[in-house]
Amino acid sequence: MAAPMPLGDPAPQDGLLPRQSSLDAESRTFHAYVHIPFCDVICGYCDFNTYTSGDLAGASKSEYAKSVISEIAQSEQVLKQSGLAPRRLSTVFFGGGTPTQIPAEDLVSILASLRNTFDFVPGIEITSEANPDSVDRQYLAKLAEGGFNRISIGMQSAIPEVLATLERTHNPANLPEVIAAAKAVGLKTSVDLIYGAPGESIEQWQSSVMAAIALEPDHISAYALIVEEGTKLARQIRSGELDEVDEDLQADKYELADKLLSTAGYQWYEISNWSKSAPASMPTNKSSHNFAYWLSQDWWGYGPGAHSHMGGVRWWNVKHPTAYASRISQGISPALARETLNARTRLEERVLLEIRISDGLPIELIQELSPAAVGLIDHFVADGLVENNQPGKVVLTLTGRLLADSLVRQLTNT
Ligand SMILES: C[S@@+](CC[C@H](N)C(=O)[O-])C[C@H]1O[C@@H](n2cnc3c(N)ncnc32)[C@H](O)[C@@H]1O
Ligand code: SF4
Repeated sequence: MAAPMPLGDPAPQDGLLPRQSSLDAESRTFHAYVHIPFCDVICGYCDFNTYTSGDLAGASKSEYAKSVISEIAQSEQVLKQSGLAPRRLSTVFFGGGTPTQIPAEDLVSILASLRNTFDFVPGIEITSEANPDSVDRQYLAKLAEGGFNRISIGMQSAIPEVLATLERTHNPANLPEVIAAAKAVGLKTSVDLIYGAPGESIEQWQSSVMAAIALEPDHISAYALIVEEGTKLARQIRSGELDEVDEDLQADKYELADKLLSTAGYQWYEISNWSKSAPASMPTNKSSHNFAYWLSQDWWGYGPGAHSHMGGVRWWNVKHPTAYASRISQGISPALARETLNARTRLEERVLLEIRISDGLPIELIQELSPAAVGLIDHFVADGLVENNQPGKVVLTLTGRLLADSLVRQLTNT
């Protein structure tokens, strides 16, 4: 069962945004996230807003693209009427759920609608997530022809027992073929791994990282397994059917991943993300879309449960695909609720996000937090948690990365 939506103030039916959303908009880039809320089965650990055919309660998968295209038309009007000047999109990301659960033609028609409505900056990054079982070369070729240039594949592990614990249904033997097909049609490739599944040994994790490296993708994400409340995995751990996640072992796995990945030519650029460096004349292999989130840019999230952000105004859509389709068909904004962040919250969010990237957090943000926070940075350097050779910036060391959340708590609470 997916997590409940946050509270917030009710959003108006016309979706119009408060004035704060348009302040300094020209200093921020504009991005689109398209949520595709469908999966064949729900993996035991996952609390994303996604539904199997049995959970759709009348919502139609085949009509879904039409609803999103209507929301795109609505968003153009909302932005205009809220005083936001037209801006071109810098990245588009289709996530889920599993975007590749709907026909490639539907993803391409949503993308075409975004292009016709907002236009794209030259060299735009356009990504779709995919489950390795839900794509083949023909599907990937249609995405590439339709304008997609990057695919992010949920590999999670190379070990059948670990995949079984996670209740993943894909066959890990399919990965090489899917990655080769993606490369053959000209897509940049990324794979997602998860470490820390109950019972996963460090040797099994090493094999998974090595298997990911052997695929030679442009980019690898490695996420620490989070046991989300309300998931089957959480129930299995509570009942003793599965072991608790061992946090020390998880930290060892992070260090091992960083060592293996950097030795293989993948540089960390955000705590959970590594990429191969691209030649200067080529587009970066880092996820430009994720930088939009980490650097608090503006994005519109389309689809049920999708979150959007414009200049410190954050809103989120109704969660169920049926409620979403119903609002869209009545011409009502699907936005359920929203919040306008104050200056202090925006500052703390910037610290939380920017400290995670290898480019580092500008020291001015720490100065804005408090004089005591500046003093703490000296302690962090002395303790080997922050690099001491990065003037004007706070860049975490490997040990610092493992403790990032605690460091942020200390900085924001002093
Ligand atoms: C929407 S899924 C990717 C696409 C596709 N649905 C799939 O799973 O192959 C996004 C990614 O989030 C990560 N993820 C989901 N739930 C997680 C959890 N509880 N802990 C850590 N990572 C998680 C997984 O690595 C997954 O690949
Ligand atoms: S396939 Fe992906 S989105 Fe779907 S349940 Fe599994 S992890 Fe979540």
